[in-house]
Amino acid sequence: MNSYSVTDSIQRAKELVSELGNTLGRVPTAAVITFGCQMNARDSEKLTGILIQAGFSIVEEESADFVIYNTCTVRDNANQRVYGRLGVCGGFKKKNPHMKIALCGCMMQEPSVIEKIKKSYRFVDLIFGTHNLYKFPEYLVSVLEQDGMIIDVWDKPDQIEEDLPVARKYSFKSGVNIMFGCNNFCTYCIVPYVRGRERSREPKEIIRECERLASEGVVEVMLLGQNVNSYGRGLENPISFPELLKEIEKIEGIKRIRFMTSHPKDLSDELIEVVKNSDKICKHIHLPLQSGSSKILKAMNRCYDKEKYLALAKKIREEIPDASITTDIIIGFPGETPEDVDETIDVIRQVEYDNAFTFIYSKRTGTPAAAMENQVPEEESHVQFDRVLAEVQKYAKKQSSRFEGRVMEALVEEVNENDPSLVTGRLSNNIIVHFPGDESLIGKFVNVKLNECKGFYYLGEIQ
Ligand code: 5AD
Ligand code: SF4
Repeated sequence: MNSYSVTDSIQRAKELVSELGNTLGRVPTAAVITFGCQMNARDSEKLTGILIQAGFSIVEEESADFVIYNTCTVRDNANQRVYGRLGVCGGFKKKNPHMKIALCGCMMQEPSVIEKIKKSYRFVDLIFGTHNLYKFPEYLVSVLEQDGMIIDVWDKPDQIEEDLPVARKYSFKSGVNIMFGCNNFCTYCIVPYVRGRERSREPKEIIRECERLASEGVVEVMLLGQNVNSYGRGLENPISFPELLKEIEKIEGIKRIRFMTSHPKDLSDELIEVVKNSDKICKHIHLPLQSGSSKILKAMNRCYDKEKYLALAKKIREEIPDASITTDIIIGFPGETPEDVDETIDVIRQVEYDNAFTFIYSKRTGTPAAAMENQVPEEESHVQFDRVLAEVQKYAKKQSSRFEGRVMEALVEEVNENDPSLVTGRLSNNIIVHFPGDESLIGKFVNVKLNECKGFYYLGEIQ
């Protein structure tokens, strides 16, 4: 395969897409189908940006002329969904001989997945992984020029590509990668194996990106990393995450700053101070608990115990009373007993989470937990899962309603899907509010009276 620069490759892809358009008698279409986390959503904006520049018209249907699945493998059900969708897409390809199908993302970093695709999904045209997304323009050229399956998966990154075209889903908000990979090796988690070692972007590149986004009208940025609290450690001139936040705060057009995800083991007092004293940093901390049992936390290699986590959550609640605290919880980790789950429920009762994502443990081949002997039967996990979910929902409802009657600032995101006379806005603490308004408000900040709490969202009115 020839090695072109990104710009040259996009130029060449453009010629090929235009030729395809002549053959088809219409503009070729492309669809980007995304699974998984905010990181993948951000990567998909890069894939979309490249496809637009190459001349494709972006659609949502998987019957498009070019379809790319950006996959996730954090839990097995994400993998199964990809295989299901791929089967359907293969059906479309039988009817459209010009169609090309591509796969990328975390699932592609697993050798067993590649073997399965080579064997059972031979109609796939292109496979690449998490470390070489910036090569997509080159691969696109190759796929449009030739038939046969192209596979290029690397086991580690070679560089951080800074200037790929990006098509943002929202004009007024954007994700910004501040680091890639993860070094924590929680024993259940496949991320360190498929996303590689932790690498922080240079602060000046992050600031430059945020400034450019601000100049394009973006008012809210979400700083993305698997563990933002360890940001900056490997850099030539190390800087801490709170220091980075203070720099981003200085950018005039940026009005709101969010971040995801905070590992409890590294959340510093300095961070709490910076969030507390900032008008721009949103009052929302996502603090994955995973388990409330110190025994299970140790087996998970989380590097904190129940007491340390509770003390941290208490400090956040005391210092920033308006902040919402959300979490991730795993049920059915090897060796987990109903008594361990009682500990998790005890933490839920004490922290009173504003919201929580609960997952049933999924065995990921190659992780230490997959080799542990005392795997929990699935039926037992479901019983415990229902117990935990009931508690989570109880407190989420209670927490959400604590703002009833108050006037708070919302950033309007979209016209309400079910009722076009309403718009949907998001508060600093991540709570959603629906209120009368129209399209012209999208991307604007408005003060909204939170009239009625409906569980996880509010109905309100502009003040
Ligand atoms: N099984 C279930 N949930 C998992 N997560 C990560 N790995 C697994 C797994 N093997 C969950 C964790 C993490 C979230 C993104 O996904 O709760 O915080
Ligand atoms: Fe996975 Fe743990 Fe890293 Fe999060 S911190 S990505 S759960 S290994």
